[in-house]
Amino acid sequence: MAYIVAEPCIKCKYTDCVDVCPVDCFREGENTLVINPDECIDCGACVPECPTEAIFSEDDLPEKWADYVDYNAKMAEIWPEITEKKDAMDGADEFKEVEDKKQYRNENPA
Ligand code: SF4
Ligand code: F3S
Repeated sequence: MAYIVAEPCIKCKYTDCVDVCPVDCFREGENTLVINPDECIDCGACVPECPTEAIFSEDDLPEKWADYVDYNAKMAEIWPEITEKKDAMDGADEFKEVEDKKQYRNENPA
C-alpha cells in the first residue's frame, strides 16, 4: 500500500506535503504532484499538511478518485523529484474550491 495524491492537488500544488516527507517520494508534474508508491513508507505525515486534503491512504481513497492509484504509479516513473516546498501555483486559492478538475490532468512533467 502507499499514499496517493488525488484530484484536489490539481492546479494548486501547495507543496506543504513535500517538506514533511521523510523519504522524498514526491514527484512533480506540470500542475500536480504524485507519490512514488515504491518509496512511500506509509507514515501518513503528509496528509494533515495538505490545504486541499488531496492525500489519502489507498484504503481511504474515495471511489471517484480510484484511478489516481495508477496515475500516481505511472507518473512517478517519469516525473522529477521535488524535495523542497515552493510557491503554490498561480490561482491555487481559487482552484482549491473547484470540485471537478480531471479535465486539467495531464502527463506533462514540471
Ligand atoms: Fe512521504 Fe509518509 Fe506521505 Fe508516504 S505517507 S508520501 S512517506 S510523508
Ligand atoms: Fe498538492 Fe496538497 Fe501537496 S495541494 S502539492 S498534495 S500539499
